[in-house]
Amino acid sequence: MADQLKGRTVFITGAGGVLGSTYVRRMLAEGARVVASDLPGKRAEALREAHDLNPDFRFYEVDVSDEDQITTIFQRIEKDGWQVNVVLNNAAITGELLMGAGKPFPDFADLSVSDWEKTMRTNLTAPFMVARQMDRDIVGRWPCTLINVASMYALNGAHHRIYDGMPFKNFSAYGVSKAGIHGLTVWLAGYWAARGATVNTIAPGAVFNGHSEEFQRRVGELIMLNRMAKPDEIADAMLFLASPAAGYMTGQIVNVDGGFSGW
Ligand SMILES: NC(=O)c1ccc[n+]([C@@H]2O[C@H](COP(=O)([O-])OP(=O)(O)OC[C@H]3O[C@@H](n4cnc5c(N)ncnc54)[C@H](O)[C@@H]3O)[C@@H](O)[C@H]2O)c1
Repeated sequence: MADQLKGRTVFITGAGGVLGSTYVRRMLAEGARVVASDLPGKRAEALREAHDLNPDFRFYEVDVSDEDQITTIFQRIEKDGWQVNVVLNNAAITGELLMGAGKPFPDFADLSVSDWEKTMRTNLTAPFMVARQMDRDIVGRWPCTLINVASMYALNGAHHRIYDGMPFKNFSAYGVSKAGIHGLTVWLAGYWAARGATVNTIAPGAVFNGHSEEFQRRVGELIMLNRMAKPDEIADAMLFLASPAAGYMTGQIVNVDGGFSGW
């Protein structure tokens, strides 16, 4: 389908990641204007290199955990001439990101309050701040939609055994933050309905990103389709949620997980 997103101006947080960069590419191809944002660094640079020449693409450095940056973002974008009508709360700290830099992945008993709070700040407080800013600057002024990004481990417990012997584990604060973000969705859906705004959650399954054969086998056994997802398969559902075709949906969670949550 071409031009599925004509007339949409999409603001994406954490746009330089595996999924975010796929959404940017696919949304531009569908006729959207895309306002991508991320922390400064290699991912941001790669995104700009790929799309800076496209007049429908703009990039803003935004740290979603910084309240001042969030409270000014939609005004900045409007001052530069664009009015956002689709927002993706996509940025997140995953266990791998937080615990990276060569540190061993901590057991639950060793998880520090500061690592827990850092995860909550980025994965849950930041989406709240973005939604609050939509409420202040956009909701009620023109029709808009918010898509919160959760995970297959938001409303389902993690299968801890598949991480035995792996360099990473499922990370408690991550799953808890992702359950919370769907709480934000259902709370806001009714609150915004009368002002012409919708809000939904997408819950991606396990996306392949260079995982070992053994991990793919273990996680595949938990998935009806018996394999990990390709980023474009998550983007297919994201495009739908961002499009006018999803106009009668609000307060929903859309699982794109190969049947993981359906057993
Ligand atoms: N990849 C998967 O298997 C999977 C599965 C379920 C859900 N998800 C969710 O999808 C979303 C995207 O995941 P991904 O796989 O592309 O992850 P990723 O790690 O590749 O990308 C996350 C992006 O968020 C950015 N980010 C982190 N902290 C930030 C901050 N303070 N401010 C701004 N940006 C920040 C990072 O720089 C990075 O570009 C996340 O919400 C993730 O939890 C991913």
